[in-house]
Amino acid sequence: MNETLNLIYQRRSVRAYEDKSVPAEVKQSIIDAAMRAPTAGNMMLYSMIDITDQAIKDRLAETCDNQPFIAKAPLVLMFFADYQRWYDYFKVCGMTTALGISENEIRTPEEGDLLLACCDALIAAQNAVVAAEALGLGSCYIGDIMENYEVHRELLNLPDYVFPISMVVFGYPTEQQKERQQPERFDKSFIVFENKYKQLNKAEFDEMYAKTHERIKSFNNGKLEKSFGEMMYIKKYTADFTKELNRSVRIAMDKWRLKTEQ
Ligand SMILES: Cc1cc2nc3c(=O)[nH]c(=O)nc-3n(C[C@H](O)[C@H](O)[C@H](O)COP(=O)(O)O)c2cc1C
Repeated sequence: MNETLNLIYQRRSVRAYEDKSVPAEVKQSIIDAAMRAPTAGNMMLYSMIDITDQAIKDRLAETCDNQPFIAKAPLVLMFFADYQRWYDYFKVCGMTTALGISENEIRTPEEGDLLLACCDALIAAQNAVVAAEALGLGSCYIGDIMENYEVHRELLNLPDYVFPISMVVFGYPTEQQKERQQPERFDKSFIVFENKYKQLNKAEFDEMYAKTHERIKSFNNGKLEKSFGEMMYIKKYTADFTKELNRSVRIAMDKWRLKTEQ
């Protein structure tokens, strides 16, 4: 088996770490790998923050839906969609004089710019995940970093055009984590289509979730009280943390959009 593919196929999220710090050169290799990721127009529309202050880690463990393992991770990297750097540069690069426009006339970043910057930041994050894996570290994404936008903005000194799209926590996996079973994925036929998108019908959903339902039954005396969809609707889709996610992202989006509409 190809070594890189093996690494990718064997990876699983790691949420418990050995009490062992990450050597500086290992951290640098992970950051260097992130920065070699493809980036739209080679603009590097992202920034990272390496959280080394334990007090900030402790706070993030609370603000990211109370996940204590964040505070225990020896390496915490945050990934931001960042158009602020380009926007600030456009103001000072001499372009206003050349084009005869004022600073206020410089186009402010819009929704498409944000999504492109999110792509950049997430692709860089995934390079960091794979590099960490190659160096013996486990990792876990923290999507809850998109919650509590106002708190994170203040805590991390974020300007308007810097959006915290993801955080990844890293550390050396405990033995228990190394042995943890890999979560299953859905069958390819429901995920990968050829040439055209295919919307699934009830029968296909039943087939798609058959294995999941069998697993639920095996934990519950052979009974299936609720479908997986019903469980997920309550536990995730309409949960308080999802409401907070959507509230928080809306505030952040308004920072980009309202300026655009002025
Ligand atoms: C965008 C994103 C956000 C995630 N957020 C969290 C999180 O806040 N807490 C957590 O424990 N895991 C989080 N995860 C990890 C997923 O739960 C995990 O990837 C999924 O269960 C599949 O497991 P695997 O990574 O071991 O294959 C996140 C993953 C992604 C890609």
